[in-house]
Amino acid sequence: MATIFALLTQNVSAHIVMVDSDQEKLKGEVMDLQHASSFLYNGNASIEACTDYSKTKDSSVCVIAAGVRQKVGEDRRSLLQKNVTALKTIVPKLVEHSPRTIIIIASNPVDVLTYVTWRLSGLEKNHIIGSGTNLDSGRFRYLLSQKLTITPTSCHAYIIGEHGDSCVPVWSTVNIAGVRLRDINDNIGQDCDDENWKDIHTQVVQSAYEIVKLKGYTSWAIGLSVSQIVNAILNNTTSVHAVTTCVQGHHGITDEVFLSLPCVLGRSGVMDIIRQPLTDLETKLFRKSATIMAEHQAQIKF
Ligand code: LAC
Repeated sequence: MATIFALLTQNVSAHIVMVDSDQEKLKGEVMDLQHASSFLYNGNASIEACTDYSKTKDSSVCVIAAGVRQKVGEDRRSLLQKNVTALKTIVPKLVEHSPRTIIIIASNPVDVLTYVTWRLSGLEKNHIIGSGTNLDSGRFRYLLSQKLTITPTSCHAYIIGEHGDSCVPVWSTVNIAGVRLRDINDNIGQDCDDENWKDIHTQVVQSAYEIVKLKGYTSWAIGLSVSQIVNAILNNTTSVHAVTTCVQGHHGITDEVFLSLPCVLGRSGVMDIIRQPLTDLETKLFRKSATIMAEHQAQIKF
């Protein structure tokens, strides 16, 4: 619902179909959103819902946020098998009604579920995108902005790899207007850094656990993150976002594993993957993330 709210209030899409098993809740959400029409940029936005996927026919983009979510203290990887089961129902039905769609997955663990969605959909890899570390990178940029007193959109920084516990901050390229923080503090992000920039990455990894403990779930940031990805596709922005895609062949990864790297997003989904230079340590951490994901992928029973 946070994604839908973002899509409507940011005028990303004027035609939205919600699918859920709870018909009553769907009816309430549609009514509540329709009553907002006069407050929206596009007062004629079409907001529909169904329980049988029928109204999703020929969707340009499908967003999957279904499944169980983290409980207090629970990690994302423990949701895997339950959410694979959910995808086995959802993905074939979405593709049946929209065989040329681009699917964005936000359910967790998002990286492995992106792989699962690709396998279940039969679609090309560039049409299957996980929300990945687009959100982690947003959190990273926000925390950097607080330390630097510069707005987040001027703090250029990427987190790659797994969305969550083994995510990799690319400290070597963090920059403000091209000025790399590493050139000012060459220990940045390392244990020996007496300015303790590494703590920012720790806060990124802990974010969701903290928010789940406080409000029970995360919603607004992930909703806006997914809305940004949908916008890139629908409006062919060719903008770069750290999203989950197949990273085989990048940074020495040989497995067909799905993780986040900076990708060019546009009308055909993932249009390219940016070949980011990484330090030896960053490469080592990225490969570690890939090994963990490959182990989880290998457990999947299709
Ligand atoms: C988070 C969830 C979306 O990090 O994994 O907020």
